[in-house]
Amino acid sequence: MATVDSRGLEVSTGNARSLEQFDAALHLLNGYYGDPLAAIDEALAEAPDFAMGHALRAGLMVTSGDGTAEPMLRESVEAGEALHAGANDRERRHIAAARAWLDRSFTRAIALYGDIAIDYPRDLLAVQVAHIGDFLLGQSSMLRDRIARVLPHWDAEMPGFSFLLGMHAFGLEETQFYERAEDRGRSALDLNPRDPWAIHAVAHVMEMQGRLDEGIGWLGSRREDWADDNMLAVHNWWHLALFELEQGDTDAVLALYDENMCRPAPAVALDLVDASALLWRLHLRGVDAGARWQPLASDWQGRGAAGYYAFNDVHAIMASLGAGQPDAAAELRAALSGAAARTGTNAMMSREVGVPVADALIAFEDGDYATAIDLLMPARLIANRFGGSHAQRDVINLTLIEAALRGGRANLAQALCAERAALKPMNPSLRRLMHRADDCGRGAVRH
Ligand SMILES: [Fe+2]
Repeated sequence: MATVDSRGLEVSTGNARSLEQFDAALHLLNGYYGDPLAAIDEALAEAPDFAMGHALRAGLMVTSGDGTAEPMLRESVEAGEALHAGANDRERRHIAAARAWLDRSFTRAIALYGDIAIDYPRDLLAVQVAHIGDFLLGQSSMLRDRIARVLPHWDAEMPGFSFLLGMHAFGLEETQFYERAEDRGRSALDLNPRDPWAIHAVAHVMEMQGRLDEGIGWLGSRREDWADDNMLAVHNWWHLALFELEQGDTDAVLALYDENMCRPAPAVALDLVDASALLWRLHLRGVDAGARWQPLASDWQGRGAAGYYAFNDVHAIMASLGAGQPDAAAELRAALSGAAARTGTNAMMSREVGVPVADALIAFEDGDYATAIDLLMPARLIANRFGGSHAQRDVINLTLIEAALRGGRANLAQALCAERAALKPMNPSLRRLMHRADDCGRGAVRH
């Protein structure tokens, strides 16, 4: 009889201890808990010929969306390929999908993970890697539909079911089904209150609906469920900081940054993205983040991963500009344009979104607001192509509004504020922008 994992899927190892560690590692990955890499490495030390173990390790590297993970991804893909003869169909397909990512065909890789999930709908690893891939690629409808495809094959008794609900919640949120998203997220949390992705999905709903006090209460009251030893912690701190920022409490934002978001180098890319974007939002408001910029910029610059993923590069440029290092920003911009000239998914991302947004940020910092506006107006319409969530990409809209205000483009500033006002209830930050747009229309300047 073939060996099966905790969801009944066949695996090629007969080593029960290794399989147990594999299931434990997958659980850590599902909840972004602790150290799934250490757990899967233990499983592989126990059984080095466990193909699915190498597939999990590879999937973990794919979900990081970070060029610094590439050497480890290569190790896992090559180890998995060497086990081809003894691997089963599902394991071989995992390794092939990871190979596509390693070859920088990100879109194809995620399609392959998605295909595995169609044929093996209880393969939670394939589902989750595809889900995070959809996030990295900005494929919002698939964030929702890829989960919907597999749900009929699950029930609440199966281990990990709540994680599926959390993923579905996020997909529903990113496609504006806010009520259903919140219901799904709360259902996931009824089953497992410590699901940071489900907590995060509901926080997104509150962000998109401008429910600031509720958002602060939601994340604040559940802090023990998401903040400790969790890979998503900085991201959820960032969400909490966004609510505070919309309230206009920039002191609270800086305190959250200092106490919870600032990480020693080398930080993971996701954390650097959020740290950079938060300081940039403060910068747009004229808040001086001072010495916070420099270590952030250095961390980005020391990674040697520029040109891997345009979404990261744009945030690295924010940090260099904020740190007052235009030469470093120009170097990162050169890496982006080098990437744009190559092939693969990131070439498209860099060409269509990364380079124009980077140039807009550089122009903004030079005080060339007209150029920033010209670049951002079309880029914001297709910005999903370089990944991230609506909330993350909103930094582009905020930069555009600030460029319009500082560039004396009162009509544009008022129009962009009106867009926001139609989507969310009034809040202190939006009111402030609208006052400034009105002042701008009267020829006054107020920062
Ligand atoms: Fe988020």
